[in-house]
Amino acid sequence: MAKTLDGIRSIENFSLEDKRVFIRVDFNVPMKNGVITDDTRLKAALPTIQFAIEKGAKIVLASHWGRPKGPQDREAMSLEPVAQYLNQALGKEIILVEEPSSEAPKALLAGLKPSQIILLENLRFDEGEEANARDFAQSLAEYTDIYINDAFGASHRAHASIVALPQLIAQRGIGFLMKKEIEMLDKVRFDQESPYVAIMGGAKVSDKIDMIEMLIEKVDSLIIGGAMAYTFLAAQNISIGSSRVEKEKIKFAADLLARVRARGKKILLPEDHVVVTSLTAVESRKVTPTAAIEEGWLGVDIGPKTQATSSAEILRAKTVFWNGPMGVFETKEYSDGSFAIAKAMAENAAATTIVGGGDSAAAANASGYAEQLSHISTGGGASLEYLQGEKLPGIEALREPKRSEMVRPQ
Ligand code: 3PG
Repeated sequence: MAKTLDGIRSIENFSLEDKRVFIRVDFNVPMKNGVITDDTRLKAALPTIQFAIEKGAKIVLASHWGRPKGPQDREAMSLEPVAQYLNQALGKEIILVEEPSSEAPKALLAGLKPSQIILLENLRFDEGEEANARDFAQSLAEYTDIYINDAFGASHRAHASIVALPQLIAQRGIGFLMKKEIEMLDKVRFDQESPYVAIMGGAKVSDKIDMIEMLIEKVDSLIIGGAMAYTFLAAQNISIGSSRVEKEKIKFAADLLARVRARGKKILLPEDHVVVTSLTAVESRKVTPTAAIEEGWLGVDIGPKTQATSSAEILRAKTVFWNGPMGVFETKEYSDGSFAIAKAMAENAAATTIVGGGDSAAAANASGYAEQLSHISTGGGASLEYLQGEKLPGIEALREPKRSEMVRPQ
């Protein structure tokens, strides 16, 4: 098991039969008007739930959804669509508990049978969840003989169901999704095989500074695309037309380019672009002959030359990590660059190929190559914080306390 997980138990280590097994999952899935539009996180949670069913556990599933502001959001942010999805996917009745911390569900709990499943309503409807409140955790503890955290995507949040609750439960551990996420992400955090190529994209340099700093220590080549590439081009005095630029980060970009080159590492910036006169003027789309962009035009994707150079670099690698799309991939006409990255990663079957971050995961899924990649993380913020070297509160809360930290009961 990955060294991050040393001292942490896994669901297979417990005897689940007839026990109330509280599984914290991340069902914060994209939904539009009550319809789930991407079920990646739901599918990823199923192996742990199925295992608990097979072992005869009484299953309590719990998740947050969105960021509710108050009672007015109860209807729009309910987990009801998730309950319906699970009912279909597992072929079992899912009992949705409206007010998990009230007295009413306790009777239900007493009558719960092995392999039955209850789903607690959106945990963030109770303000104790985000406050990591002990009293809310104590009410959740009434559902719990064994606590399993399988919510990798939410484990960077020190919230009651992630931190306060497991600390009240002696039998606590992780599920299969959490284990897979950590094991796969550790391949780029600790055990990267050379040549290691990282592809960074997305809108802003400022969101990615820690990530870039971490990566330049480890990679052999860094490919930069997406809107953040324009700030790097501006740092080299290349004209970028009306493209998005972070003026206050131009100096950082120039320093970074100098540092990377001084260390003999490769940094690849776009050599050409797909440009338009405005984001919505798809019909004006054209490809620039060079990295320079004329006034009145803005970049929305990397061009074909850049796609070819980047793909060749990816095909030579043994480890590939991708974070952040290469363009505005949600618009079909601006998606070729991001999909070319996914394709090259998929074609390099000998390499470990990992995608981290919500937007690049969505781009990888939309590309049609998702199945051929080693791992697409279900965590957005969590995967980035983890890879930047942060300790995730949700993992730390599962460790056995060191002897020196143990509190003697009064
Ligand atoms: C996510 O979607 O990244 C996680 O579910 C965490 O959600 P949050 O950013 O609202 O805490």
